[in-house]
Order: sequence, then C-alpha cells, then structure tokens
Amino acid sequence: MDTYTPISQSSAIIVAFASSKGGVGKSTSCAALAGALCRRGAPVHIIDLDQTRTLHRWYSRFHPNMPNFHVEAVEEANFMGHIRNIYQTHKGFILVDVAGSFAKAMIKQAQLHI
Ligand SMILES: Nc1ncnc2c1ncn2[C@@H]1O[C@H](COP(=O)(O)OP(=O)(O)OP(=O)(O)O)[C@@H](O)[C@H]1O
Ligand SMILES: [Mg+2]
Repeated sequence: MDTYTPISQSSAIIVAFASSKGGVGKSTSCAALAGALCRRGAPVHIIDLDQTRTLHRWYSRFHPNMPNFHVEAVEEANFMGHIRNIYQTHKGFILVDVAGSFAKAMIKQAQLHI
C-alpha cells in the first residue's frame, strides 16, 4: 500500500465534485477518493452541500469514529465562510460534494477569484 506524502505542509488541497447535471456520480466519486486517501493516511474533510446529505448519512452510519476523516453537512449559504475557516487549519484534503443547482454559482465564484 502506498503511503501518503503531503504535497504541501502549509495548506490543504481542495477538490470539488461539481456538475450542473444530476446523477453523474459526484457523490460516489467523492466517497471513492476519500476512501483511497484515508487508506494512505491522508487527513480528509468532506463538505456535503447536497440537500439529500448522501455522504453525511454514509459517514454517520459507517465511519463516525475514524481518525482524520470527517464529513460535515453545510448549508450553501454558509459555504464560503465555512471553507475559508477549514482551509486555514486543515493540512490534508478538503473534498466538496456540490449540489447540482449550486455548481454554476460556485464555478462563477471560483472564476472571480482566479
Ligand atoms: N462509476 C460508476 N459506474 C456506474 N455507476 C455509477 C458510477 N458512479 C456512480 N454510479 C451510480 O450512479 C448513480 C448516481 O451516482 P451519485 O449519487 O454518485 O451521483 P451524483 O452526481 O452525486 O447525484 P446527485 O446529483 O443526485 O447528487 C448511483 O446509483 C451510483 O451508484
Ligand atoms: Mg450526490
């Protein structure tokens, strides 16, 4: 098994799973990547923006006490402030499962900040 070597010691890596189309595998891909990273010892924090809370329910039911792995259900309205806070302290991967309707707004925000 490969061991996780941090790419950067100073900041987290953010990966967003976003698509304006629903049902394309965002949540499944997000969970798969989280599992692969956790197996290699990387700290993973998932922000679940989907109203169905697929990943938060999965985490609460099957993985509630894993060290270095958290899934948090966050309201879209609180997202920007929330991810800023996590980014300041988290040293691993922040994965964002974006709800379909929120993807366009988020991509627009990202473009404004590039
Ligand atoms: N790589 C894959 N191959 C085959 N089926 C898949 C794959 N990834 C996801 N699926 C299936 O496709 C369906 C939708 O997947 P998923 O819930 O991950 O999509 P989503 O983009 O998160 O959906 P939503 O927009 O509703 O949040 C699920 O039934 C899942 O099991
Ligand atoms: Mg989903």
